[in-house]
Amino acid sequence: MTSSTAHPITRLITGASSGIGLALVQHWLKKDAAVIAVSRHACDSAALTALQQQGLPLDCRDVDITDPAQLETLASSLREEGQSIEQIINCAGVLHDQTTGLTPEKRLEEVNLQNLQQSFAMNTFAPILLARQLLPLMPRRQPGVFASVSARVGSIEDNHLGGWYSYRASKAAQNQLLRTLAIETRRRYPQLCVLSLHPGTTDTPLSEPFQRNVPEGKLFSPARSARQLADIIDNADENDHGRFIAWDGRDIPW
Ligand SMILES: NC(=O)c1ccc[n+]([C@@H]2O[C@H](COP(=O)([O-])OP(=O)(O)OC[C@H]3O[C@@H](n4cnc5c(N)ncnc54)[C@H](OP(=O)(O)O)[C@@H]3O)[C@@H](O)[C@H]2O)c1
Repeated sequence: MTSSTAHPITRLITGASSGIGLALVQHWLKKDAAVIAVSRHACDSAALTALQQQGLPLDCRDVDITDPAQLETLASSLREEGQSIEQIINCAGVLHDQTTGLTPEKRLEEVNLQNLQQSFAMNTFAPILLARQLLPLMPRRQPGVFASVSARVGSIEDNHLGGWYSYRASKAAQNQLLRTLAIETRRRYPQLCVLSLHPGTTDTPLSEPFQRNVPEGKLFSPARSARQLADIIDNADENDHGRFIAWDGRDIPW
């Protein structure tokens, strides 16, 4: 179960218009493979358009991955085009959103149903519905990776600070869904590696309002995070299947 194949592979990356997802697109396009970039505004993204203008094998798709109907349409159009996808990397995620008033909760009084629902729709339901729709496009008897960018704060055992109810819980539940997927795919996709990844604190719009207390040298550039995650993904083997791994390759307790 290794992701290195003899022929060029295709990767589908969600959250591809910003932050870690965009940096992964840039990283892999420089190397070997074709990339399908997915986000709500992928086709309008200046950064992605610039890569296409360089003639790189980049296919952009505008999809809201919290909408099951849009995921189904994505899957059926890829199927009709005869696409096979060897690696899927889900980078889309939400921590705060000015348009809805979502902010990480500091105390119980700030918890509300709308924030919980938005966080779970994006960070929990979308990754498993993505797998539900796109797994049939992955080769059954060749190496593949389904990785989702989770977060260390989703670790229940590692939760000593509290706060951030919606984000923490939505990532913890994402991890459980990915672990469950890993168990099922062991039989059905014996060469598929399912991973939950923690990128480390990375300088992106998602972390920007919360960077004040990040110790010196601990805030990664998106390019550095992408290199570190790509290294894990490209070297993943059967020993990594079903793991929750940090950027440095170390296990994070569930
Ligand atoms: N940055 C960090 O320090 C850090 C730390 C730990 C974990 N993470 C995790 O890493 C992942 C990537 O975060 P980031 O920091 O790179 O965030 P980011 O810069 O805010 O990027 C988020 C991406 O998700 C896309 N997106 C948002 N809602 C979407 C939807 N409904 N459908 C499809 N795409 C959607 C956005 O594009 P559109 O607006 O075009 O849809 C954007 O490309 C997230 O899962 C986050 O939880 C980040």
